[in-house]
This record gives sequence, structure tokens and C-alpha cells, in this order.
Amino acid sequence: MTNDFYSNWKEGDEGWFHCPDDDVLNNALTTWAKFNGLRDAKKIIDFACGRASAGIILSKEYKSLIYHGFDNIENIVKAANKDLADYPNAKAFLLDIITGTVNDTYDAALDLNGLDMIPDKHYPYKLAACYEK
Ligand SMILES: C[S@@+](CC[C@H](N)C(=O)[O-])C[C@H]1O[C@@H](n2cnc3c(N)ncnc32)[C@H](O)[C@@H]1O
Repeated sequence: MTNDFYSNWKEGDEGWFHCPDDDVLNNALTTWAKFNGLRDAKKIIDFACGRASAGIILSKEYKSLIYHGFDNIENIVKAANKDLADYPNAKAFLLDIITGTVNDTYDAALDLNGLDMIPDKHYPYKLAACYEK
């Protein structure tokens, strides 16, 4: 691991991801979904999803919830989809959220240490990627 954010992202270092066994995250996400009525077939987008730990946690608890994670590193997306294999309503996709847009609508959005890691010079693009359709 280097001390450069972009190099570490490209390497897909394990240290950059949340763990699906994280109790605090499990509690926070399941409580969030419950209190916001996101359990039954509601659609959630996860920006910069990494290994899709949020998708695993939510899908385990709420079987009919639809989870779409987006990340710009191909091997990370592949690994995420392997981890999500037991959850047919959950999938990760390759997308650069700075320059790309998503052709779908969602009931709620998640960002776990994703957007905050994008350099400030990209702010206008990053916001456009979130809100433009
Ligand atoms: C700190 S990790 C967090 C991953 C995940 N959200 C989690 O909590 O485990 C940051 C993630 O942002 C992704 N990322 C960075 N720039 C991105 C971009 N422009 N578009 C999509 N994903 C990006 C990286 O590939 C990495 O998986």
C-alpha cells in the first residue's frame, strides 16, 4: 500500500473497504433501512460501493430489497459480485461516478467513504453524476 489515494484505489487494497461483519455498520444500516421504510423491494444505490459490504448487510436482513452498487475499479466490482452471489437482488456495476451517470431511479442512496475521497477539483462533476439522469 502506498500513501497515494489513487494508487491504492487502483490496487484495490483490502484496507479500503468496510467489512460485512462490522457490528456497528450492521446496526447502523439495518436501523437506517427500517426507519426509512426501505425493506420491501425498495431500490438502493451505493456510490463507490467497493466490495459491496453495505449490499451484503442489507440483503441478508431484507431479502426483497434491491441493491445496486457502483465502483470504478473492475476487479473490485468483480469481487463485489462474487461476494453478492447469494443475493439475487443485489449487484455491483462498473461506473466512474465522476463522469458517468446512472440510468435508473432509486428510493435511497448510500455513500460509505466514497464521495468524500474524490478530490475537490471534481466536485462539480461528482454532483452532476449524483443528480443528473
Ligand atoms: C474507501 S473505499 C469505500 C468502499 C465502500 N463504500 C465501503 O465502505 O467499503 C472507496 C471506494 O471508492 C471507489 N471510487 C473511487 N473513485 C471512484 C469513482 N470516480 N467512481 C466510482 N467509484 C470510485 C474506490 O474504487 C473504492 O472502492
